[in-house]
Amino acid sequence: MAQRPAPFRDLDWDPERARAFADEIVGVWTELLGSFRDGPVVPPHLTQEAVREAVALDVPDDPMPPDALVAHLREAVLDYSLKSGHPAHLAYITGTGTVPGAAADLLASGLNPNVGGWLLSPAATEIELCLTRWLAGLLGLPETAGGMIVAGGGVANFISLKVARDAMAGVKTRQTGVTAKLAIYCSEEAHVTIDRAADMLGLGTEAVRHVPVDEAFRMRPDALLEAIRADLSAGVSPGIVVGTAGTTATGSIEPLDDLAEIAAEHGMWFHVDAAYGGALGLSDELRPLLKGIERADSITLDPHKWLSTPLGSGCIVVRDIQSLSDSFGVYAAYVHEEEGIDRGLNLGFMGPQFSRGFDALKVWVSLLAHGRKAYATRIEHDIELTRYLAACVEEHPDFELLATGLSICCFRYRPEGTDDEEHLNRLNERLLSELQLDGRVYPSNAIVHGRFCLRTCIVNFRTEADDLDLVLEVAAELGAKLHAGASSTLPS
Ligand SMILES: Cc1ncc(COP(=O)(O)O)c(C=O)c1O
Repeated sequence: MAQRPAPFRDLDWDPERARAFADEIVGVWTELLGSFRDGPVVPPHLTQEAVREAVALDVPDDPMPPDALVAHLREAVLDYSLKSGHPAHLAYITGTGTVPGAAADLLASGLNPNVGGWLLSPAATEIELCLTRWLAGLLGLPETAGGMIVAGGGVANFISLKVARDAMAGVKTRQTGVTAKLAIYCSEEAHVTIDRAADMLGLGTEAVRHVPVDEAFRMRPDALLEAIRADLSAGVSPGIVVGTAGTTATGSIEPLDDLAEIAAEHGMWFHVDAAYGGALGLSDELRPLLKGIERADSITLDPHKWLSTPLGSGCIVVRDIQSLSDSFGVYAAYVHEEEGIDRGLNLGFMGPQFSRGFDALKVWVSLLAHGRKAYATRIEHDIELTRYLAACVEEHPDFELLATGLSICCFRYRPEGTDDEEHLNRLNERLLSELQLDGRVYPSNAIVHGRFCLRTCIVNFRTEADDLDLVLEVAAELGAKLHAGASSTLPS
């Protein structure tokens, strides 16, 4: 007689228990939302030891009491984290995290569809396809275009270059591995993930030509042509041109139309890394800056940058959605789908991820809840704020403006009468570290013409002029201390 196992329901919380737990978490989240202006971006002088001691718990055999669990989360979030949503967080190109996007994440996890298969995720797949078609359309791609939400811009670059490799070297490369000598051209200012993609694709980083830039840090079309000609005479096939719309260091937009033209003339794939600048497509006023992007074969977007959707929400769109299946399609015997059943695309067969979560929802809900126009206005505002900061830097006797583009401002502390470049580099390196340890404001850095500088990037919908004033105030205060050789918290 078969033994009937008794039910085991410990993991199966009922709706009341779910609501009680979620309410507590929402309490911590809203406390965080209300806390930004009361404290620093990151608690000052946080050490790894202190953080580890506070948050690294042993996983218990039995359930942690809910109060203790919520207290643990509250402490980790409020006392031991860097708050990317703080208005003075201006480092890298890090979005703030939209409020509707965070709420949508709960629902995406609650439904937990596998967006690798259409039958497993009918609404989710169609939302993702609608979203990516909309983004592609904004940038002027044709109706054949489409794409998907991926972990970030680096992954979108990798997928794009994989599709490009297979299109240029032939899909047979998927069986044979790379046999052709194929070159990739991007500018000296392109993001490091282009090199990483070349490495991962078996092309090798030596296949990447870092084409020189002009005085505004944009790829020089004449230098691109020169590099292509040199490869042709050396028997290397020019394969892929990568233009950047919004470079990481200075926010420069490369001459996309010229690059598209050169790519077309040589039968090459044209990819645009618009991880940062692609958001300009939402603004009628700024969209013309992207002229030429509509000629791209593939585009990297990164909603978790300037659309501020919660990480990770990168996006790839391609001119012809079929090219994704050509490059990533596989046969899996255990996925049986009868011919003739009405269903849509299986995104798990169109990219490197097989099972996929519903990351598109946080982007979708952010766009629906805010609408395109609010985003456009905020992006325009970020650029205006950056112009304000650049003007303040220029007016200040102890700062020097080194570059500015879109919502990025690169400047350095340069006390009057200090000309020694080596000293200035070291001074600004130390200043950046002091600022980040202090935590009241949080810039990152760039190297501009060999000069180390502080760099702010406003993709933060809470940042206003007061926060930028504070950046200069704190940088001047800590810079003066360092310059005077007084109290540094760093080892010398
Ligand atoms: C131009 C550009 N492309 C790609 C990336 C990589 O994006 P992610 O960090 O989302 O992977 C970045 C990151 O800053 C970037 O600036």
